Amino acid sequence: MFVDVDARTRNIDLERVDAAITTKTRALLPVDMAGLPVDRYRLYEIARRRSLRVIEDAAQSMGASWGGRRIGSFGDLVAVSFHANKNITTGEGGCLVLTDAAETDLCTRLRLQGVVRLPDGGQEVEVAGGKHNLTDIAARIGLGQMKQLDAFTARRRLLARRYYQRLDPETGCELPQEDFTNCNWHMFQVLLPLDRLRLTRGGFIQALHQRGIGSGVHYPAMHLLGLYRKLGYNPGDFPQAEHIGSTTLTLPLFPGMADSDVDRVCAAVTEIIRENRK
Ligand SMILES: Cc1ncc(COP(=O)(O)O)c(C=O)c1O
Repeated sequence: MFVDVDARTRNIDLERVDAAITTKTRALLPVDMAGLPVDRYRLYEIARRRSLRVIEDAAQSMGASWGGRRIGSFGDLVAVSFHANKNITTGEGGCLVLTDAAETDLCTRLRLQGVVRLPDGGQEVEVAGGKHNLTDIAARIGLGQMKQLDAFTARRRLLARRYYQRLDPETGCELPQEDFTNCNWHMFQVLLPLDRLRLTRGGFIQALHQRGIGSGVHYPAMHLLGLYRKLGYNPGDFPQAEHIGSTTLTLPLFPGMADSDVDRVCAAVTEIIRENRK
C-alpha cells in the first residue's frame, strides 16, 4: 500500500500511515526525499505501536540527521545508496546498516552467492545469494568520499540557503521545507507555478537548458507509472504526490557550485517565469 506524501516535507505523510495499515502490512518503508529525514520519533512510535518493522530508504539521506542523531543510527535495517548522483559515491553501490547478528550474517552471505568460507579453506553454500558485493575499488573510493561527507553537507546547506535568499518570491515557485539542521540537501526542488505559465515543465527544462543550466524531475508520482496503473492505481488516488510529481523541478545543487552559479540559476528561473506568465 502506498501512502500519500505531506505537501510541506514531500515525505510520507505520517498522519495517514495508521489508516493505510492492513493485516498484510509487515513493514513501513519511508523515503527521506531529497535528504530531508522522515520524523524518526513519530515513525518509530507508529512502528512500535503497530508491531511493524521499519525499512529505512536512506538512499538520499547520507549525512542527514534527526534530533542531533545521524541517519543510519536509528533503525535496524537502513539502506543507503552510493550511486553516482548521491551526496557521497562509490560510482555504483550502497550499504545496509544492520544491528542483528544473525541478520547481518545472512545478508553477508546473500551479498556474495551465499558462500561461507570455512576454516579449512573449503566453502559451504546454504542460501541462494546473489552478487551484491561492493568491489574493493569502489569501497576505497567510498572511504575517501566518507572523509568529505561533513564538508559536502555543509556546502550543500549553504547553497540551499542561498537559493532561499536569491529566488524571487514573485516567481510563485513553491520552495522545499527550510531545514538547515537535519536535511543534507541532496536536491533542491521547486514546484513550478505551471497553472500560471504559458509553458509546460518540459518547455521550462528546455528554456533552462538553452541558458546552459541542467535540471531534472525527481520524481513523477509512482502510482501513475504504467506498472502501478496495471495494479489498479488511478489519478486522484494520492493528490499530493500527483501535484508534486507534475510540477516538481530539480535545480542544480552540488558542493562544487559557486555562489554565483546559484545566482545565475535563480536569475534564469525568474526570467523564464516573467517571460511566460499567462
Ligand atoms: C530514494 C531512493 N531509493 C533507492 C535508490 C536506489 O539506490 P541504488 O541506485 O544505489 O540502488 C535511490 C537511488 O537512485 C533513491 O533515490
